[in-house]
Amino acid sequence: MINSIQAVVLAAGKSNRFNTGKTKLIEKICGKEMIVYPLSVLAQMDIATTIVVGFQKEQVLDAITEKNIAVSCIEQEEQLGTGHAIICTRNEWYKDHILIMNGDMPLITQDIIESLYEEHIKTDATISFVIAHHAEPYHSYGRVINDESGIRIIEAKEVASLKLQEECCINAGLYIVKRSFLESHIKDIEQSEKTKEFYITDLINIASQAREKVSTVSAPFDRIRGINNLQELWAAEQIKRSELIKYWMEQGVRFAAAQTVHIDLDATIGAGSFIGCSVHIMQGAKIGNNCTIDSFSIIEDSIIEDNVHVLSHSLIIKSTLQSNTQVGPFAHVNQSTVSAEAIIGNFVEVNRTTIGQKTKAKHLAYLGDATVGERVNIGAGTITCNHNSVKKNKTHIHDNAYIGSNSSLIAPVVVGEGAFTAAGSVITKDVPANALAIARSRQENKLEYAHIVRAKAAGATIEEKKEQQDQPNALFKGATVDHTTTI
Ligand code: UD1
Ligand code: CA
Repeated sequence: MINSIQAVVLAAGKSNRFNTGKTKLIEKICGKEMIVYPLSVLAQMDIATTIVVGFQKEQVLDAITEKNIAVSCIEQEEQLGTGHAIICTRNEWYKDHILIMNGDMPLITQDIIESLYEEHIKTDATISFVIAHHAEPYHSYGRVINDESGIRIIEAKEVASLKLQEECCINAGLYIVKRSFLESHIKDIEQSEKTKEFYITDLINIASQAREKVSTVSAPFDRIRGINNLQELWAAEQIKRSELIKYWMEQGVRFAAAQTVHIDLDATIGAGSFIGCSVHIMQGAKIGNNCTIDSFSIIEDSIIEDNVHVLSHSLIIKSTLQSNTQVGPFAHVNQSTVSAEAIIGNFVEVNRTTIGQKTKAKHLAYLGDATVGERVNIGAGTITCNHNSVKKNKTHIHDNAYIGSNSSLIAPVVVGEGAFTAAGSVITKDVPANALAIARSRQENKLEYAHIVRAKAAGATIEEKKEQQDQPNALFKGATVDHTTTI
């Protein structure tokens, strides 16, 4: 079927109604740019496609190139309307039928294009297009009028007084036109006096007047929504997201509060997994079976193997969490691998680091540019001091090492297998296997000095306090007291 048809997708417009100063066509819907949706459908159907670009064309083309979608490209230098955009492609037409599609209809599906094509061929139409019904006055759409003078489209922006709420048949922005008709009549599209634009929809009026066959097929409004503003973008993403969540529910994924979850198109989730409230499952996230991803966590471009528990408010980016690991709450894992059965606890950041099997870093630590072996214990407050203000250096912690709390490991540094670092140590030299490294100042106890501290706090002089309490001087042995300052 597809051999006799080629497509032109219109993507040059200025996106004025978005008010963002940027082209709407690269706004993402569930992680994929708006323009990529219609182009992917056409690519799946093997329909050769030309895209018309203009406003911010580089950004639009970058998005397409990134997704490896093969299209030819025509520039519409001045955006003079959809009719003008199609005129710009006239040297590209070579098949018998030209499918023309707005680039801002991301929810379009293959079956709608197929049924339009079938109707077009079956009725031997000159021009066929998709219509939909929308009961409310929806001002951004062209209205389809079908009366004794034939079928025609009135653009909403052309009329001030038409009761649009009564004209609920709308033009979807998807057409198939015989090339011969397009070639002979494209020049007949007139410039609108009101907007100075050329409307592609004029072609339907021209065909009707020439008593050419015009066919229509009806599609659900949700599938043909055109996205003209941020509210419509939000609505389209809601629809797409609901479809994705429904699909994953059917695959055995439980969502605690599905309406709060953000999920991207290419994310996957295994059966038996539980997704908490407000979780973001972003592009490239692959979550295994029987995982629990607790509330407010974000998973992006990461592999989460089976039986992993990500506790709430954790951020997992470009990383692998192997099976049976536990991460969070409030953990940040970036470009790292956490090996099976390891535990990364609260307020732990793991950055460009490999964590070995069964290793634990349960509280408040920064592990950056490090390789941590198996069954290592990372005490609370451990920091790998990886950056020396010029470059990043590596820390190697071998199997079964025990890093005492509040250790600062000044990289580059190696802690050998089974070695200990004493809590509060600043480790500047490699620690041999099974050694204990202590690198902190010795503690000195000033006996009974607490009384002096309290006296000072209460404002009394040391002498007064001594008299009051009749303390023997011996009790103050070793204390160094500065009478001029208060503590
Ligand atoms: C268009 C239709 C309207 C239909 C609606 C469906 C026209 C005149 N009107 O209106 O009947 O109900 O789509 O969503 O076609 N573009 C260009 N060059 C331009 C202008 C636009 O390439 O000079 C591109 C835009 O980037 C966009 C597409 O054409 O992807 C449609 O343009 P848009 O301004 O959104 O048309 P609508 O006002 O929605
Ligand atoms: Ca539109």
